[in-house]
Amino acid sequence: MLIYLNGQIIPSEKAVISIFDHGFLYGDGIYETMRSYNGVVFKIEEHIKRLQKSASLISLSLPFSEEILKRDIYETLHANSLLNAYIRITISRGKGDIGIDPELCKKPTIVIITKEFNGYPERLYKEGIKLIIAKTRRNHKNALNPQIKSLNFLNNILAKIEAKKEGAYEALMLNVYGKIAEGTISNVFFIKDNTIMTPSTKCGILNGITRQTVIEMIKKENLNLKLGFYTKEDIYSADEVFITNTTMEIMPVSMIDKKKYKVGKYTNKLRKLYKKEVELYIDQHTTYNIN
Ligand code: PDD
Repeated sequence: MLIYLNGQIIPSEKAVISIFDHGFLYGDGIYETMRSYNGVVFKIEEHIKRLQKSASLISLSLPFSEEILKRDIYETLHANSLLNAYIRITISRGKGDIGIDPELCKKPTIVIITKEFNGYPERLYKEGIKLIIAKTRRNHKNALNPQIKSLNFLNNILAKIEAKKEGAYEALMLNVYGKIAEGTISNVFFIKDNTIMTPSTKCGILNGITRQTVIEMIKKENLNLKLGFYTKEDIYSADEVFITNTTMEIMPVSMIDKKKYKVGKYTNKLRKLYKKEVELYIDQHTTYNIN
């Protein structure tokens, strides 16, 4: 496996970073997860824009343009001969002396990891997955804004630990006001009385690229959509639930805590539409031309 590290593409065994890297010492950094289909990175511009937004929210200036980053991502895919892949770009504050002052770090560390990825097992989509509602609350947006896709992931990891203890796949987190926010690595949607609902970004969530794509699809199809502030009870009384993210796309939910759900018609319809959306994107965007 070849890794992009600070401008070079090198074997993973040689891709090492300093123990003084502030990403390691303090979780000071940001990341993005992307997915490529047949050599095309789905919504790469949107992901790069979000990365830039995360960087700006932590006052990290990125020493490269959008175009260079795009080229580096595609170069890493090409070097690994990958068409269908999981892509993770990680940018930390960089190497610096011990101490949390960002100015101790002169240059960010940039890593791109790519791995063959063809999606999750079909069984999960047919049967749906189990979720719990975690006791761990999503951190408040005025404390650590969930809009920052940060390397400081302990808030989500604590909820994930709860999910694993209950034999669940994912945990939904409530915000500090008890309103549903998001999953540890996903956004959530639910359907009740023919209306598709999802927490508003005001609840303090990451505005997922998949979430945004699904919202656009729902609007295009003229389906009923509500973005709002929802409680546990709202989701317990829903007819269908699904979660979204870049790698899972639209994943049906069969259970939250003790409440069971069917994989219903809205979820199946949106899954099909999402697949079409990806196909359309792949047709309209050619793979990057590396010379
Ligand atoms: N996670 N909310 C959180 C907290 C996330 O970490 C993610 C993505 C999402 C969905 O965002 P998107 O649709 O843009 O993937 C929502 C990625 C997949 C990860 O952590 O690797």
